[in-house]
Amino acid sequence: MRIDIISVMPELLESPFSHSILKRAKTKGLLEVNLHHLRDYSTQKQKQVDDYQFGGGAGMVMMVEPLVNAIESLQKEVTYDEIIYLTPDGKTLNQRIANTLSLKGNLLMICGHYKGIDERIREHYVTLEISIGDYVLSGGELAAAVLVDSIGRLLPGVLNDETSALFDSFQDDLLAPPVYTRPEEFRGWKVPEVLLSGDHRKIEDWRHEQALKRTQERRPDLL
Ligand code: ADE
Repeated sequence: MRIDIISVMPELLESPFSHSILKRAKTKGLLEVNLHHLRDYSTQKQKQVDDYQFGGGAGMVMMVEPLVNAIESLQKEVTYDEIIYLTPDGKTLNQRIANTLSLKGNLLMICGHYKGIDERIREHYVTLEISIGDYVLSGGELAAAVLVDSIGRLLPGVLNDETSALFDSFQDDLLAPPVYTRPEEFRGWKVPEVLLSGDHRKIEDWRHEQALKRTQERRPDLL
């Protein structure tokens, strides 16, 4: 999968993709993430990418032209399956959306700043608008990092068996059951007997029961 990200602060995105699972995905050649500085696509002397909004009001708006230049220049190299704009008024990200996007080949993500991007970009280029939750971030970069992480770890071959995404919370609309590791007892706090029984059938039943219970208690809306 190839993901291109257009941003006015690409430095914010240099670190999240250089560690752990996403680093492995990149090393294995399963994921390519390219950062593009919007300023490089400004035709103005001062490399301006934002301007005052028509109609007045506080806050700048990211201009049409540099964004069009960036998008169209990338489109000469790649055909995108989705052009995604990260914005608090988009569809709220969930596991189903991450699963669907992980099956795509090429994605372009646009990170907004200030008051957002000129609406004409949304009308004419953007195919999907994603929010990572009902709160406002200072820019779309951290949201893009969350989205790339949620997609990248689902790519076939990225996770090994022990960390398989199949057992994640939300994968079957249930939260994950509790987990334990050594020692079996710490300060008198014991690991549930069933997990030490070696009876895989019983263990699976227990995990499912616990997942249901946890979901019922914390997220009944998922059931
Ligand atoms: N940009 C600012 N806030 C955001 C949010 N909650 N989700 C996605 N992009 C954003």
